[in-house]
Amino acid sequence: MTTTDVGIDQLGIYVPRHALPLDRLAAARGVPPEKISVGLGALAMAVPAPWEDTVTLGANAAARALRAGGIAPDEIGLLVVGTETAVDHAKPASIFLHELLGLTSRCRTFELKHACYGGTAGVMMAVDWVRSGAARGRKALVVATDIARYDLGSSAEFTQGAGAAALVIGAEPRLLALDAGTGVYASNVWDFWRPLDRREALVDGKFSVDCYLDALGGALADYRGDAAPVMERMTALLYHTPFPKMAQKAHRRLVEREHPELDPDAQTALFERSYAELVEPWLWLARQAGNTYTASLYLGLAWLAEQRGAALEGRDVGLFSYGSGCQGEFFSGRFVAGSGAHAARIGAAALLADRVLLDVAQYEDFVREGARGGTPSIDDGALCHLTGVSDHKRHYGRQEAIA
Ligand code: CAA
Repeated sequence: MTTTDVGIDQLGIYVPRHALPLDRLAAARGVPPEKISVGLGALAMAVPAPWEDTVTLGANAAARALRAGGIAPDEIGLLVVGTETAVDHAKPASIFLHELLGLTSRCRTFELKHACYGGTAGVMMAVDWVRSGAARGRKALVVATDIARYDLGSSAEFTQGAGAAALVIGAEPRLLALDAGTGVYASNVWDFWRPLDRREALVDGKFSVDCYLDALGGALADYRGDAAPVMERMTALLYHTPFPKMAQKAHRRLVEREHPELDPDAQTALFERSYAELVEPWLWLARQAGNTYTASLYLGLAWLAEQRGAALEGRDVGLFSYGSGCQGEFFSGRFVAGSGAHAARIGAAALLADRVLLDVAQYEDFVREGARGGTPSIDDGALCHLTGVSDHKRHYGRQEAIA
């Protein structure tokens, strides 16, 4: 097996149907709207309804991936869920998905955590599982699913969001072949964390930006070694995007690291040109859905793949995944021949077209109702829902057979 034979066979994404335009939140919080639209680059955030959680978001994304790829449940031998919004301290989100998706009992499932890096950790593990031969011809399903929650009224409130991405990983992938060499960076820092008794994350916001950029520099150096700069050979660069301006800061750092020989003006010119071409066009889902933590990088990949379609075939993409705490990984892949047909089935633009915009009072009601639990009433047309919580047990339902 060659190193380019394993990768993403099909990608599916899901974002909640409800969204809050951030100019409405800015007005309610007394913040200038340009601080959010320009300063953070964010326009709206997806808001999970009381009948949605990381399990339902992940199951909906996974169902869409299996359906789009024509993949039967018995083809999946490994199901990994990466999330930092677990629904239980012991019972993994993956076992709920296993049932909702109708997977067979001949399947290994578990949940992984390393903040926003958990989805990528799952991808790397799944790729190794396939490459090692342990898959025995089966595929892995890696689901990155999260709800970004901060305290109401905090500056981080504008960087919330929700969504999921599901990646089917297999040999001879039909979408993106992943390169074997990756670059990693790990360091124990307190930039963002969520103690076990809290629903909302705690964050040292400005420090977290510095930690992210340090991790990017370290992972990029590990990826490149003594090789030539990567940006010249990439058709797109995707960065973990907690808020869109972060990707802009990341790309600036990458240009500085890749081209230290340039003076500051030349660096700025190169940054502006390459950002507009390689980075900015793929941030649209992040501008509209907000931070989706583990899923964020893969929402960018979904938008890129769907927007560029067959034009990407044979072209390389670079990806940077960051999880607070912290872990960074820079990796890359090549879109395979015929990938345009699979990209066209992701349906990302259609998800955004069908959204219901909330006002601030409705958003705050959803937050309060979601925190209370109970038996929600459902009206969003998605396949999988939380139907209630009783005796500390969560119950889920699906509208119809998925696969
Ligand atoms: N018009 C235009 N721009 C304005 C403005 C105005 N009226 N007022 C302010 N701005 C700009 C500021 O200049 C600043 O831009 P630069 O960063 O380019 O200088 C930007 O708006 C943000 O303003 P502040 O610096 O005042 O920042 P803030 O106090 O609002 O906090 C934040 C911003 C730190 C990102 C905060 O939202 C936060 O803590 N978010 C959560 C943490 C986070 O997302 N960290 C990212 C790295 S960690 C990670 O990636 C993991 C993860 O997913 C959480």
